Amino acid sequence: MRRAVFFPLMFIILCLGASTAFSDHDDKHRKRYRHQERRGLGEYQVPPVTNPLYKEDCGACHMAYQPALLPAASWDKILGALPEHFGDQVDLSPQDRGALTNYLKTNAAESCGCKISRKILKSLGGGAPLRISQLPYILHKHEDDDIPAGAFERESVGSRGNCKACHPTADQGQYDDDLVRIPR
Ligand code: HEC
Ligand code: HEC
Repeated sequence: MRRAVFFPLMFIILCLGASTAFSDHDDKHRKRYRHQERRGLGEYQVPPVTNPLYKEDCGACHMAYQPALLPAASWDKILGALPEHFGDQVDLSPQDRGALTNYLKTNAAESCGCKISRKILKSLGGGAPLRISQLPYILHKHEDDDIPAGAFERESVGSRGNCKACHPTADQGQYDDDLVRIPR
């Protein structure tokens, strides 16, 4: 083959190769989260809370955290220690406690299959901590250089557990970083 033809031809072949490689990746990515899309959930979203009892009993002092943000064993521990709940006392009737334990465990991270839940479980390696804000995956996501130093200590934020302060869509289980807004 003459050089004048060979090099342009190689260039075209390489370009085609690269573009199919990238679209392969996109396809795989899309396929993996298609089931999530089918449920109307974004990539960085977990199913929102629908249980009215949970909203009422566990949404009084902080947002009612989506069950898919912790493994079932963590919810078990939390619901088993309500008289000493992070320095507060949470009083629930045995009936409410039973119903909530059931709701939280059936909708826990293991049952979701969502991206965030799978990442959380993987980062835990079997552990069952009590705080979402201290999960290795969540800590890692908040180590970004774009987050100004001291952001979590700001009065407008209050604590790392106050997801809503920076994720205005946290109530819908939507944590996509495109929607983040850190308050002053
Ligand atoms: C009387 C107020 C109160 C009620 C009611 C309450 N909590 Fe809490 N909860 C707290 C406090 C205080 C903290 C610690 C807040 C902090 O340090 O950021 C906390 C923290 C948490 C955290 C960890 C947040 C993090 O940092 O990731 C979880 C999970 C949690 N609560 C679940 C529940 C559940 C489930 C219920 C309902 C059974 C409930 N809470 C009801 C006061 C309450
Ligand atoms: C001080 C503000 C702040 C608070 C409070 C906060 N976040 Fe974030 N979060 C951020 C920012 C900023 C990012 C994006 C980081 C980046 O640029 O990669 C982020 C990223 C994330 C991501 C990854 C999203 C993505 O698209 O990759 C998840 C999941 C998340 N946060 C969950 C939570 C949860 C759950 C809580 C509460 C327990 C919480 N965050 C509390 C500021 C906050």
